[in-house]
Amino acid sequence: MRVLLVGSGGREHALAWRLAASPLLTELHAAPGNPGIATLATCHPVAADDGDGLLGLARFLAVDLVVVGPEAPLVAGVADVLRHAGVPVFGPSAAAARIEGSKRYAKELMAAVGVPTAATFDSPRVPCVLKADGLAAGKGVVVCRTAAELAAGLDVVRRLGEPLLFEELLEGPELSVLALCDGREALVLAPARDFKRAYDGDAGPNTGGMGSFAPVPEMDDDGLATIVESCVDPVLAELARRGSPFVGTLFVGLMLTSAGPRVLEYNCRFGDPETQSVLPLVEGDLLEALAAAAQGSFDGIRLGRAERSAVTVVLTAGDYPRSGARGAPIDGVAAAEALGALVFQAGTALSDGRLVANGGRLLGITGTGPTLAAARSLAYAAADAIHIPGSRRRDDIASDAST
Ligand code: AMP
Ligand code: GLY
Repeated sequence: MRVLLVGSGGREHALAWRLAASPLLTELHAAPGNPGIATLATCHPVAADDGDGLLGLARFLAVDLVVVGPEAPLVAGVADVLRHAGVPVFGPSAAAARIEGSKRYAKELMAAVGVPTAATFDSPRVPCVLKADGLAAGKGVVVCRTAAELAAGLDVVRRLGEPLLFEELLEGPELSVLALCDGREALVLAPARDFKRAYDGDAGPNTGGMGSFAPVPEMDDDGLATIVESCVDPVLAELARRGSPFVGTLFVGLMLTSAGPRVLEYNCRFGDPETQSVLPLVEGDLLEALAAAAQGSFDGIRLGRAERSAVTVVLTAGDYPRSGARGAPIDGVAAAEALGALVFQAGTALSDGRLVANGGRLLGITGTGPTLAAARSLAYAAADAIHIPGSRRRDDIASDAST
């Protein structure tokens, strides 16, 4: 099977790594990819949101499947351009991707099928959570506990120029559930947790994600099955009924409140950096499952889950999320891999044949092991082996869960 993978982040490097292990794979291509992905795939200089360019590439390469990683191209309709031309795609249509592209649409959908979620208010109050309707790369949500935070938050989100939502402030640990969907049915992967705040102890601004781990010990199989029954299956049924079946990864962001799980948001794609921790635990052929979903039916395909744990630590530019790093040399990747860790590249580039920093999140280092503690030790030992001047990381990824 010839596959084209769309995207250039750590999530896509993890997908490339997993797809490359499939016996069904004959050729792996990426657009645009990154230097890590280029060790597994042939990279092509076509932007992830260039639907016509991707269609031309898919036809030229005669690919059997396109896997789209990031949300922006999906919300913009890249999967539709490909699918309408007869190219099988793992990734939702623009109509189905609205579940991430519009928070108001997601809320309306949840209300229509009774998904447990935060209440919405007609006007802002203290406490509440402010949300801008559209995609805002993590900048569209402000948690307001005080009047001062509310005033400052309103200032920020109003400048995004989007309709606003005002939501009940929920408390509790968060959970990321990734479900592969064929339009009707879901195959759920290991439940994960990501670390969104920039600094240890969940301090500082929100980021794209500083680390992750899976599975989450407090979420057992019954709890996960209940979440799928209440938060995934009814949404898939409703989207199919509305004529926009969801084919791709439905990512449910939940808060585990004292009153039970509540959905904070849906995303229309794999999470980053959850994917880096979740994919190493998948037992079975991921490519076979994605191809079956793209054809509209899992048709008896099941994926298992290894009785292991994974922890991912992200190395970022020193000033991330305010700014990225350009040109700092990256050393020690081979030493980290020699310890048994996986090193997934995100913001990297090659300069005169040398791997250098080129972005905010630079690398994700994933350790796996029989326990969360073992996985965590490996991830940090491997992270210690990598040297990037001026970079930083969080030192407390999975620390509470692994003690
Ligand atoms: P979202 O993009 O909707 O997931 O929001 C980003 C982050 O904001 C979440 O991961 C939570 O940490 C926080 N958040 C979102 N909605 C709520 C809520 N209703 N109550 C508390 N925190 C929230
Ligand atoms: N890690 C959260 C996300 O991918 O949106």
